[in-house]
Amino acid sequence: MRKIRTDLLTPLDRDRTLFLKDHALAWEGSAITAVRPYDPALDADCEDWRDCLALPGFVDVHTHLSQYRIRGRYEPALLDWLEKYVFPAEALSRDPAYAELIAEEFFHALFAAGTTTAMIYTAPFQEACEAAFAKAEELGARAFIGMTLMDRNSPADLLQTTDYAFSCSVELYERHHGSSGLLDYIFTPRFALSCSEELMRRLGRFTHDRGAWLQTHLSENPQEIEQVRRLFERAPYTQVYADLGLLSPRSVFAHAIHLTEPEIALLASHECKVAHCPDSNFFLKSGELNYPALEKAKIPIGLGSDVAAGSTLNMLYHAKLANYRQSSYSLQPERLFYHITLGNAELLGLGDRVGSLEPGKEADLCLLQRPAETVPDEELLSALCFWGHELPVRETVIAGRTVYRG
Ligand code: GUN
Ligand code: ZN
Repeated sequence: MRKIRTDLLTPLDRDRTLFLKDHALAWEGSAITAVRPYDPALDADCEDWRDCLALPGFVDVHTHLSQYRIRGRYEPALLDWLEKYVFPAEALSRDPAYAELIAEEFFHALFAAGTTTAMIYTAPFQEACEAAFAKAEELGARAFIGMTLMDRNSPADLLQTTDYAFSCSVELYERHHGSSGLLDYIFTPRFALSCSEELMRRLGRFTHDRGAWLQTHLSENPQEIEQVRRLFERAPYTQVYADLGLLSPRSVFAHAIHLTEPEIALLASHECKVAHCPDSNFFLKSGELNYPALEKAKIPIGLGSDVAAGSTLNMLYHAKLANYRQSSYSLQPERLFYHITLGNAELLGLGDRVGSLEPGKEADLCLLQRPAETVPDEELLSALCFWGHELPVRETVIAGRTVYRG
């Protein structure tokens, strides 16, 4: 049982955040048991955390574990960047000792950034994906983890056979789906250019039959889109995935920048989710997400770090970039905060368990150092969304377990 005295910020919905001054926040086992105004008669035994703010643990809906060490390697277009930096970096994870090391580094950095849930791509090797699951379990992460699939148009040291890609994915799913309250498997075809029709059709059938999660990249870069059109002799890009059965309410498409109106309608009609990665979109000059059009179509939008095209796992930084990256549309602090907490949790079907600080929810939270300068209470959320990434995380808790102390 822990009981702390602190101020809290917690989202109510997409456009409202609650600031709770001088409260007692308690958790026991994995669950939050109390959020109430501090009462000296009841709460004299609280730990004093008034120099911090309690926030729901952040949720990251798109990131690449095996790319953690190549953040910020300059190459301003997706396909060249993949060839030059990403594929060689992912090939290193063929060595199980390296795969374990990079998983440890990644989860440590994730928790140090206050993130408690992540949707993760690993590398195209079953052992590397197993190493990520083992490390996630040991360290206490909440995560969806997938083996990245590439059965064509790929460097020889990453290329999988279609059977290996499919059967390893199914084995990983059978082993990890529902095996723990915190971890799940997610089928992870890299993108249309690196996956055969046969593989994607088999994945579509399996994920549909089992109601399993699937993540991939969609319509990130104009060259990529043109190559998809030539390779599949079909357009638009979203239609390729639709024809192969990859669209479902448990499919998360990263980037989805250059979509046509019919593609937006297709994603909406299948209740698909979009992972918006503004930092990455800036870095690789990929383009600007049509946030207003997706919002109008009621497509759930989540925020992803997309490390390593994104430079950091710090979700407060990505909240800021989500505002900056819309050239003619301003996302309010409340919306930014919602995206990196409850909104991302809802997108992953976890909205009733995590994403806000309420009694009965699981204790996924971070304690962030308060700004040294005076910030009026009513301006804290705005300050947090635009420079909160500079503030150190003092503690991160997942399902009641402390996973990081700063
Ligand atoms: N498209 C296919 N693979 C990748 C990747 O690793 N990162 C990004 N940003 N886009 C991709
Ligand atoms: Zn990505």
